[in-house]
Amino acid sequence: MSSTSGTEVAGKKGSGTTSAAAPVTPVLLSRKPSRIREEGVASGGTAKTACIRTFGCQMNVHDSDRIRRMIRDAGYAEVQRYEEADIVVLNTCYVRENAVDRVKGHLGELSRLKKEGRVSKVALTGCIGAASEASELEKQYGIDLVLGTHNTYELAEFVGLPGMEEARTPELPGAAELEGEHSTFVTIMTGCNYVCSYCVVPSVRGRMVCRTMENLLGEVRRLVAGGTRYVTLLGQTVDAWREDGKRFSDLLERVADEAPRVWFTTSHPSNMEDRTLRLIGVRDTIVGRLHLPVQSGSDRMLKVMHRGYKSDRYRRKIEVFREAVPEGSLSTDIIVGHPGETEEDHEETLRLIEDCGFDAAYVFKFSPRRGTEAAKLPGAVPDKVAQRRFLEVLRAIEGNALTRNRARVGSVVEIYVRHGRTGDGHAIGETWSGHAVHVPTDAEAGRYVTAAIEGAGPHVLYAGDPVGPPR
Ligand code: 5AD
Ligand code: SF4
Repeated sequence: MSSTSGTEVAGKKGSGTTSAAAPVTPVLLSRKPSRIREEGVASGGTAKTACIRTFGCQMNVHDSDRIRRMIRDAGYAEVQRYEEADIVVLNTCYVRENAVDRVKGHLGELSRLKKEGRVSKVALTGCIGAASEASELEKQYGIDLVLGTHNTYELAEFVGLPGMEEARTPELPGAAELEGEHSTFVTIMTGCNYVCSYCVVPSVRGRMVCRTMENLLGEVRRLVAGGTRYVTLLGQTVDAWREDGKRFSDLLERVADEAPRVWFTTSHPSNMEDRTLRLIGVRDTIVGRLHLPVQSGSDRMLKVMHRGYKSDRYRRKIEVFREAVPEGSLSTDIIVGHPGETEEDHEETLRLIEDCGFDAAYVFKFSPRRGTEAAKLPGAVPDKVAQRRFLEVLRAIEGNALTRNRARVGSVVEIYVRHGRTGDGHAIGETWSGHAVHVPTDAEAGRYVTAAIEGAGPHVLYAGDPVGPPR
């Protein structure tokens, strides 16, 4: 471990920070209407408008960008105020207990605007959409569409686009989102070859289809030439990407040659190779953050879920990652209350959390999804029990994350500005180790600033005034 004190600037593999790169404080991230506004005139000259509100940190932002692309493709102009919007999409985060209350405030206002005829449709997406409270909220506020984290694509039909099934092609034309913006998501594969008991993806998205390396690299080059400074490779299991003899680490290495900053999500523990983990540690342009969903710490549950690995294999992967990227950050997904989950299973999950010391996690209460195996399994966990387990897992994660984050106070780090100053008075950035940082700067998104970490919470680091001008 390198020192976290002193004035040495933490570049990519230096000191840096470790924190919750995770779903967190419900920060409202407003984004520029940009080109969307110009393109948003529907045929016949009537402008259809949509407003997207993102709650959560940057993890939620890539989903919002997907949503943004859909509304743009459907001919909507993006607006920032509910009053001006035909359609409102609330993309939500569930990790903080007060997140639901915060969203309820917005839903209340929206149902009033609907009654006044100013807003016509409201969709709720993201973690709250996947949670058990969703159906209650749907009834109470008359929400038109509720979607979880894995089926945002259903929104396509909601806004009048063909469903993903029809839209999917192996070449994925136009897969890059928000071209020309500082940060771009590039889909490298669609679908999934796993059949996790609880998951709706395989039945609705079909089997894995990978884009070719050549096609992808061409796109990355074009994007970088057009001003993109941060490329995130996307897919349900990006580490399963294959082309002839080539594997994901080969692709990542090539992308890391082309783009000034690279990250990837999401991965599957059965596909994650040690050489990919080591690559993160040695390449300066790859963000040192690994998101590796574990789902449960119990081997029995992992089997029921058809995850295809045991918890010790997962632990070994994490050891390799921590060794290869000592200052990196690690996040995961955990489901509590899957049918059949016993108290012992839950204890195993808490033990795994202790062993891995996650910097962040998305924690989900199991929610039965139509068409999945788990929806029909016996052994439902009562909601009260699931809620307690949910909070226990959350507390364990937050406890670890806070300890790790506090150890970062005093370090001086380079911060990539992801979102310029928000209404709360600070910009939202990311360190090379993948930690979310609030930093008081007017630097625009896409620039770097250097600042000392002065405070830490379980989900975010707080930097002081930057040293020198942005680069
Ligand atoms: N219930 C709860 N959580 C789920 N996830 C996927 N499907 C369900 C479900 N039916 C979670 C998993 C996955 C993340 C994106 O969503 O943890 O990794
Ligand atoms: Fe769903 Fe991920 Fe499992 Fe695929 S690997 S079935 S996307 S949870």
